[in-house]
Amino acid sequence: MNVPDLIRKKRDGEPHSRAELEALILGYTRGDVPDYQISAWLMAVYLKGMTPQETADLTMVMAESGDLMDLGDLPRTVDKHSTGGVGDKTSLILTPMLAALGLTVAKMSGRGLAHTGGTIDKLESIPGWTSELEEERFIAQARDIGLSLVGQSKDLAPADGKLYALRDVTATVDCLPLIASSIMSKKLASGAHTVVLDVKVGAGAFMRTLDDGRGLARAMVDIGTRAGRQVRAVLTDMDTPLGHMAGNSLEVLEALDTLRGHGPHDLTELCVALAVEALAAQGEDAAQAEARARATLYDGSALAKFRAFIAAQGGDATYVDDVSKFDVAPGRADVTAPTPGFVDRIDALSVGRAVLALGGGRERKGEAIDHGVGVELVKKPGEAVQAGEVIMRVYHRDGRGLDTATTLLADGLSISAQAPTPDPLILDHVN
Ligand code: URA
Repeated sequence: MNVPDLIRKKRDGEPHSRAELEALILGYTRGDVPDYQISAWLMAVYLKGMTPQETADLTMVMAESGDLMDLGDLPRTVDKHSTGGVGDKTSLILTPMLAALGLTVAKMSGRGLAHTGGTIDKLESIPGWTSELEEERFIAQARDIGLSLVGQSKDLAPADGKLYALRDVTATVDCLPLIASSIMSKKLASGAHTVVLDVKVGAGAFMRTLDDGRGLARAMVDIGTRAGRQVRAVLTDMDTPLGHMAGNSLEVLEALDTLRGHGPHDLTELCVALAVEALAAQGEDAAQAEARARATLYDGSALAKFRAFIAAQGGDATYVDDVSKFDVAPGRADVTAPTPGFVDRIDALSVGRAVLALGGGRERKGEAIDHGVGVELVKKPGEAVQAGEVIMRVYHRDGRGLDTATTLLADGLSISAQAPTPDPLILDHVN
């Protein structure tokens, strides 16, 4: 197959067949098609788009470019994916809830990306915990306790790894069929029967508007359905960080509070809503599912699963019960209200960038991070404040990045004279 002809075809807005996509994508993965031709093709896709059938075919070709995880006879397998946000520690709470509900989570998670945090980085706040398990142990642990979670394997959807790196440097990341196929290729290759997607929308998310978020959610649900999986998506607000904590150790501490039934309202409700989606996708009645899901946070069953999961992956499980052991950076600085009024906005992107500046995320691939730094939202949008009252608390180490962080946080904060109308957390459902 002639690669320039395929680039020309997409440039002229014509759809590709599956065989054509295989020639391009598998050729690129093998190293037979060079970066410069795929760059031109990616830009043509960016400008001309793809049909739903092409997007589904591209996803399957990417999923099948490497190993396909065989979850075999594991019962009621479920996976969850968030498109990325700030303070989004949902996976730390939801996955043990699902295990406590009798579902099986055998999941791959990522590290932080840009200003958004990653589950693996957060869990590494617990000494000893490892994201590297042999496949046999990964499956056995999922069978024994209902939950195993590892880092992304390079052998899983390798086409996505190569394409993502190229998109990153050719201004073709924010393209709906390319994002949808990138995310779903990894989900399909990971093997779970049910997939719950949390599509973040707003200032701190990759999708800035509800319309764009809906488009992405529909595309991903469509891909999963065509591949014979149960996929449900929830669109959720990411204008403001989720919960009160952003930063690795701080987020694990907040997740543990939530697993003890003392979590912030928004975080708790989102975890319950996502658990309901997973149960409903497996045919459970929604009202009953909600009661069962909520109970796991109050009867200790989700916390017990989390403890067992940490221990099984080599982590020091005493951290779960003695939270004073967590390394929280000792430096403190406060961002206060410049005037009295109501907190109108705490911009999620500013908070995410502040955590990065403090050293809680990476600016370069492979960089070490400081798990103990972060930002606490002492107040959330809608709350009344007096002039000088603390709105955000910064946890820093020896002042590293502090000036940048406090400037970002102050710029991302607005106070209004009138109480703002609260935005709903859950914006829509797609299934
Ligand atoms: N996350 C992914 O895995 N892929 C994208 O393209 C965007 C976000």
